[in-house]
Amino acid sequence: MEQFPFSPDVSRRARDITPFLVMDILERAKELERAGRQIIHLEIGEPDFPTPAAVVAAAQAAMAAGETQYTHSQGLLELREALCDHYRAAYGVDLTPEQFIITSGTSPAMLLIFAGLLDAGDEVILTDPAYACYPNFLRLVDAVPHRVPVFEEDGFRLRPEDLPRHLSRRTKAIIINSPANPTGTLLPPETLRELADLGPYIVSDEIYHGLVYEGQEHSILEFTDRAFVINGFSKLYAMTGWRLGYLIAPRDFIRPLQRLMQNFFISANAFVQRAGIAALTQAGPEVARMRAVFDERRRFLLAGLRRLGFRIPVEPTGAFYVFVNARHLSSDSYALAFDILEKAGVGVTPGVDFGPGGEGFLRFSYANSRENLAEALRRLEAYLAGRQAVSKST
Ligand SMILES: Cc1ncc(COP(=O)(O)O)c(C=O)c1O
Repeated sequence: MEQFPFSPDVSRRARDITPFLVMDILERAKELERAGRQIIHLEIGEPDFPTPAAVVAAAQAAMAAGETQYTHSQGLLELREALCDHYRAAYGVDLTPEQFIITSGTSPAMLLIFAGLLDAGDEVILTDPAYACYPNFLRLVDAVPHRVPVFEEDGFRLRPEDLPRHLSRRTKAIIINSPANPTGTLLPPETLRELADLGPYIVSDEIYHGLVYEGQEHSILEFTDRAFVINGFSKLYAMTGWRLGYLIAPRDFIRPLQRLMQNFFISANAFVQRAGIAALTQAGPEVARMRAVFDERRRFLLAGLRRLGFRIPVEPTGAFYVFVNARHLSSDSYALAFDILEKAGVGVTPGVDFGPGGEGFLRFSYANSRENLAEALRRLEAYLAGRQAVSKST
């Protein structure tokens, strides 16, 4: 898979990091596009909408007003206060601005939490499949990912009753992500409560909160204080390129996490933080519109995939992904995704990117227009018919 051999001087840490396979698909798709092919991108996990205008205007105004310097290492107080208001309104949870650290995206927040919580050899539970980057973040701090399989018949929900046999003396944390990437799974409140009662810290990645189409999302902080939240503006506010996120931590972790932030990142970008305040306080109607469009596309894609013969026993209800079993086509999801890209001109993500439990699955993102989804389904139909014709003739 790797194009070049590593230099023998590359560190063990860097060697241990696995490639993000979706980027391999994306890079090949770009190559095909340069050669004149028209590719439909259902592999990418980012909203296709522009950032709401009020958010852009707030950043422009902040820049023009000279807000171009470092901020407090924990972030602008006004942004942290706006986040406290949001947590009170959305979840009925009372937080103080001191519990937040604003970061340049959710990804740095993850790094800070894992660096602040985990020692070498500490084990962390995560689902299989799960967001591809979690195990790599864990390996970077010499922690040990421990995967717990989840199944399509259960809608890929983690079963708390399965967990005790996966816990060991070294289990320090459980990562949850609801709604989830890649499965779109939303965990019910009873599950969150049971997980919170198990003992290890919960690290709750709430980046897809707000993108829920059936049911209601809950923050882990409604159930326990022994938890870390990571969240960001990338998905809900269509702000992937702005790089704005945050963490919420128990009080006795904040000072150590702040020291990590000061040393490694200093602060998040000042005018982007101003934009974050506008997102929280002004972008509500725009977010509601985007959510309604995502929901419409979700239903459309689910119906289309089922028509093509994919079995989807439990419908995803959050984020913007459908994770489908494609084992009837191939047990090698990487090869299958490349074949679909080359022959049908549709980019999809191989399930194995998300762990061994995802092998044989494909992830379709519906962060793309209805027209493009329709065209992708037409192309997939022709691709599948072509495969059938070949298999009949051989
Ligand atoms: C589950 C999950 N967590 C975190 C991230 C990273 O988000 P950010 O853009 O805030 O770094 C992603 C991005 O795809 C994601 O899917």
